[in-house]
Amino acid sequence: MLIHPTGRFDNHPADNRHIEVLPLAAAMGAEIRGVSIAALSDEAFAEVRAALFRHKMIFFRDQDISHADQAAFSRRFGPFAEDAYTKGVPGHPEVQPLIKEADQSVGMVFGAGWHTDSAFLAEPPAISMLYGVEIPPYGGDTIFANSALAYAMLSPTMQAMIAPLKVHMSMAKVVETARANLDADETPLGRVAATRDMNRLPDEIARKVAGTMHPLVRTHPVTGEKALYCDETYATGIDGLTAAEAAPLLKFLVEHITQPAFTCRLRWAPGTYAAWDNRICVHQAFNDYDGFRRELYRTTIAGEAPR
Ligand code: SIN
Repeated sequence: MLIHPTGRFDNHPADNRHIEVLPLAAAMGAEIRGVSIAALSDEAFAEVRAALFRHKMIFFRDQDISHADQAAFSRRFGPFAEDAYTKGVPGHPEVQPLIKEADQSVGMVFGAGWHTDSAFLAEPPAISMLYGVEIPPYGGDTIFANSALAYAMLSPTMQAMIAPLKVHMSMAKVVETARANLDADETPLGRVAATRDMNRLPDEIARKVAGTMHPLVRTHPVTGEKALYCDETYATGIDGLTAAEAAPLLKFLVEHITQPAFTCRLRWAPGTYAAWDNRICVHQAFNDYDGFRRELYRTTIAGEAPR
């Protein structure tokens, strides 16, 4: 029987003066109450930003905002990121629709599989945000796992062993899965699925499949917190290890990060706005709402080369 990890859970809110923070789970996540993201003072924004780094994923309910409001709120966190998959809505190239129609049934949804966003880029997005407009009556949740807590819960010997390692992050598995499961169309993953021949990839996809080596343990640039930088979707190898050597280590780390005790699960509603810090958590979307429409809008904030 698995002994439940204990000792390092601390998701209590900081002392805030301008926002109310309600932790979602022991491991991570918090709801921010008492504010409209379209009309946030600088003081309240500073507390929201600190809450994001503290709780890894934050969300607001009942936000009634336009694409321009989402773009303006997102931009307060920094410049927009290069987005690896999606195209923006007309007039707002940085606000990307994420829509699955009620009559669409696909083998893979955008965001399937545990991942940290676009980790194959040299400078992956720091923060991602989603605004829910139409939400299935059940299903379509997003689950998150705290990869900083997961790092802290490793033994000092394991921490020392993995400290010098670099992880190879690549889009290869997404390309293979999309090609096997999806029609080529104008959806974000449909454009990846259109990639028919792995040996003759368009330059833009080839660059993402070639990917980047990143530190397996990364340090948050603002808080100094250390986190495992590893996921199920993009982590494909370890620099200097054979595939046979790397696979069990990556499998252990992914299972360790994503164990239920380190997660929280967000139930969307129309008007829910969520933001997460890709440097210190991983997440995944579920493909469990066939027959219902799900419409969200996504923005991503530029990050730095992981260190
Ligand atoms: C994502 O991975 O960014 C999408 C998450 C979701 O649609 O729930």
